[in-house]
Amino acid sequence: MTTKNHQKVVLVGDGAVGSAYAYSMMNQGIAEEFVIVDVVKERTEGDALDLEDAQVFTSPKNVYSGDYSDCKDADVVVITAGAPQKPGETRLDLVNKNLKILSSIVKPVVESGFDGIFVVAANPVDILTYATWKFSGFPKEKVIGSGTSLDTSRLRVALAKKFNVDPRNVEAYIMGEHGDSEFAAYDEATVGSKPLKVVAKEHGLTDDDLAKIEDDTRNKAYEIINRKGATYYGVATCLMRITKAILRDENAILPIGAALNGEYGLDDIFIGTPAIVNANGLGGVIEVPLSDKEKDLMAKSAETLKKVTQDGLA
Ligand code: NAD
Ligand code: LAC
Repeated sequence: MTTKNHQKVVLVGDGAVGSAYAYSMMNQGIAEEFVIVDVVKERTEGDALDLEDAQVFTSPKNVYSGDYSDCKDADVVVITAGAPQKPGETRLDLVNKNLKILSSIVKPVVESGFDGIFVVAANPVDILTYATWKFSGFPKEKVIGSGTSLDTSRLRVALAKKFNVDPRNVEAYIMGEHGDSEFAAYDEATVGSKPLKVVAKEHGLTDDDLAKIEDDTRNKAYEIINRKGATYYGVATCLMRITKAILRDENAILPIGAALNGEYGLDDIFIGTPAIVNANGLGGVIEVPLSDKEKDLMAKSAETLKKVTQDGLA
């Protein structure tokens, strides 16, 4: 597939995550046209005016406040609309509220004639990604969730600090739910091709230390929310990276919320796994050869999601 010269992205949800994503897209010079949609129109107008001032120092971009009809010829629609967690709330606690918001968004996007790729970040993201697929009637490949992209970034950053290496050279993934049942797939992880567990030992880290890093990663969102009320820069950058992989038809392997089709013995679910991202959306799932313990963790995490999906979408 060849990529177009003019690419268009519509962002739905101009809150903390959405506006940070818009800024990241602007800074990276990705997509020539960027449309912002939200129920709060003044905010999207204000953000578009503010963001257009950045283009002189990045690259030209037509950024404006729009509506769902703008999705018609968009390549990607990114959904960040939805309530965020309050301190003490889990992501799964948001499900009813955010499913309602999501259904009010997907319908008009599809009615516009949109035929591109949905990228979903609103929480609980794995459930909302599944619901986007259901509500839209799109092929599964054309719906992608941010999944465990942020969690994987968090894990790599934490490990990189311990090993004193560039986090981009830590090939370790958080898999499963973007939430409390996620897990670190340490058994297959490497650092510069060397097994992570060997590198950890060389740095004096025990299995308990690795478990603590995994736990801290799982809880990092709570730590940030307790301090500043929300998380947004990290996920905004993950969303930018996923969008770039789609628009540039990269076949990049990224941790995302992907539709499974028998991988890990699972289907009818969107869940965090490494996967290929290209202009068609999901280019394929990379099925990590998990250890038996990790297979159990993946199955348990999937079970948690399936229960909420069944209850929430019943
Ligand atoms: P926010 O409250 O700052 O922004 C939400 C925005 O959605 C607001 O601008 C609101 O007006 C808009 N909105 C609400 N209903 C709408 C509708 N029907 N149509 C259009 N827009 C609507 O929240 P936030 O901090 O930006 O978080 C947004 C979502 O992203 C939350 O669900 C949060 O949990 C999630 N999130 C996900 C990740 C991840 O890794 N996937 C990370 C951080 C936050
Ligand atoms: C995160 C959000 C809250 O930062 O899902 O992980």
